[in-house]
Amino acid sequence: MEYTSIITEVRGRVGIVKLNRPQALNAFNTALVTELFDALEVFDKDNNIGALVVTGSEKAFAAGADIKEMAEASPFEMLTQGRVEQWDRIREIKKVVVAAVSGWALGGGCEFAISCDMIVASESAKFGQPEITIGVIPGAGGTQRLARLLGKHLTMEMVVNNRTLTAAEALHFGLVNRVVPVEGYLDAAVAFAEEIASRAPLAARMAKDAVNAAFETTLVEGLKSEKRNFYMLFSTEDQKEGMKAFIEKRKPGWKGK
Ligand code: CAA
Repeated sequence: MEYTSIITEVRGRVGIVKLNRPQALNAFNTALVTELFDALEVFDKDNNIGALVVTGSEKAFAAGADIKEMAEASPFEMLTQGRVEQWDRIREIKKVVVAAVSGWALGGGCEFAISCDMIVASESAKFGQPEITIGVIPGAGGTQRLARLLGKHLTMEMVVNNRTLTAAEALHFGLVNRVVPVEGYLDAAVAFAEEIASRAPLAARMAKDAVNAAFETTLVEGLKSEKRNFYMLFSTEDQKEGMKAFIEKRKPGWKGK
């Protein structure tokens, strides 16, 4: 696919997707959403890539779904065009995805960031769900994911009363992994992703799958899922290598097998 609204780049074993609609603060129109998920899926299948980073610009990670594109839509147009269904494709990405967020992460921008596996925020990052100010509510998972991440009361305030969180607040409430200076925030996120990409690939994939189960199933089902993944890893060469390397007091060499 030829991209017009994103830029992709590979640094070492990290695949980077940069949202690139500066004229609309990276608002997600159909083209941007389609290209974003296409690029993530291409990187996900590439054995030379170990982890992914999605970023925007210093001013805006993304200012939400494209309001101009959907302002006149009917419910059936929204439904048949699968406006927000596409966003579920993030759940199928097997490799770890780090969101590198600077500036505005609003509406769908906030929802996409929290759908990623980890967030590196610049000091200027601002997270919010302002849909209430345009007469709607979040439609790409915001009410559900934020409630699981932040609890009911703060989520309610964000969704019902347009409360935005600064980067420092997001760190305080556990919404982001780390806050770094604006200058070099992408490099910091890529370095973080590079570290993740150096881990045993199949174990990283199983670990992500097990952690996600905690948000999608009961405790009993989640524990089963964790155990299954743990046992399954004993069928890999990397498990044999990892444990042998520990015993032999040397660094393991991962094969992803
Ligand atoms: N959709 C379409 N265009 C957008 C946009 C959006 N979500 N956000 C910004 N833009 C456009 C503006 O219309 C403007 O374009 P023009 O120059 O052609 O007028 C350009 O981007 C720059 O924006 P501003 O001039 O508004 O920049 P600012 O610095 O003054 O303000 C902002 C920045 C506070 C982020 C403001 O742009 C804003 O409030 N944006 C809308 C945020 C929003 O409501 N997001 C939720 C969308 S709905 C959603 O996401 C639903 C869902 O759950 C999937």
